[in-house]
Amino acid sequence: MKLHGKSVLVTGAASGIGRAIARRVAAEEPVVVVCVDKNGPGASEVSDEIAAGGTSSYSVAVDLADRDAIELLAGAVTEQSGGIDVLFANAGVSFGGGLDTLEEAWQASWDINVMSQVRLARSFLPGMIERGGGYIVNTASAAGLLTNLGALSYAVTKHGSVALSEWIAITHGRDNIKVSVLCPMGVRTNMLFPEGGRQNEEHMLAQAAVLQAGDVLEPEQVADKVVRAMDAEEFLILPHEDVRGFYSFRANDTAKWISAMARYQDRLASD
Ligand SMILES: NC(=O)c1ccc[n+]([C@@H]2O[C@H](COP(=O)([O-])OP(=O)(O)OC[C@H]3O[C@@H](n4cnc5c(N)ncnc54)[C@H](O)[C@@H]3O)[C@@H](O)[C@H]2O)c1
Repeated sequence: MKLHGKSVLVTGAASGIGRAIARRVAAEEPVVVVCVDKNGPGASEVSDEIAAGGTSSYSVAVDLADRDAIELLAGAVTEQSGGIDVLFANAGVSFGGGLDTLEEAWQASWDINVMSQVRLARSFLPGMIERGGGYIVNTASAAGLLTNLGALSYAVTKHGSVALSEWIAITHGRDNIKVSVLCPMGVRTNMLFPEGGRQNEEHMLAQAAVLQAGDVLEPEQVADKVVRAMDAEEFLILPHEDVRGFYSFRANDTAKWISAMARYQDRLASD
């Protein structure tokens, strides 16, 4: 799908991959780019920059963990822009930790990494179908196809995001709804390199596992890959091509893959 002439909404647009996607999409001459984030000033900085470049853009400050706020967002955006053709459900959170992960961190991971994508699809998909079709790009992670050492809640909820994306693609393909799921490994953003650095051993393990598994890409490289993959309507968007091989190894010999990952974890822990 070409983004030219489309109405586009990006969540997590204040920073990192979402900001890069919003900027990159603006270069494709869409009708409007709606920048959504709980960081209102950050999102409006991005929409102001896009508008200054000549593309219509505005921002909405929304906490995507809030179910009612997502419905209100859809109502307000539909009223202002007449509907959305392309939804980038990109906002996400990550917490290091294993089985000791706090309930609050689990809840935030479900609410944002999975349920915000469910609720956004539920709110925007009927309008897309009415308009004759649309495109949903959910940002998951390579952790959603494989795992993320040291970050259990992240790995589990990103698998949820991949499963959701597959389900929508299967069920709504006939409604001319295209779906992609973005599954990068390391990308240079606040999530991977938080201000003040990683706090504890699990965080450090999670970060080291990502850093040693492959190159760290710039968000702009990922955004460019996303736009090109959408052009070809690829379901899996893999900015790190190695992920395809790891995913296939996991599927073809899961027991061997688990042993290899356990050895990798031991090596990281002893470094
Ligand atoms: N950085 C990586 O290495 C990497 C790798 C794979 C996948 N991802 C995924 O990419 C997506 C974007 O992350 P990023 O790396 O750009 O991180 P980031 O922290 O730079 O950006 C995340 C954005 O989401 C927003 N956000 C978080 N919770 C929100 C909420 N409740 N309501 C509204 N907005 C909220 C934040 O304010 C922030 O602007 C996430 O889904 C993340 O899981 C990142």
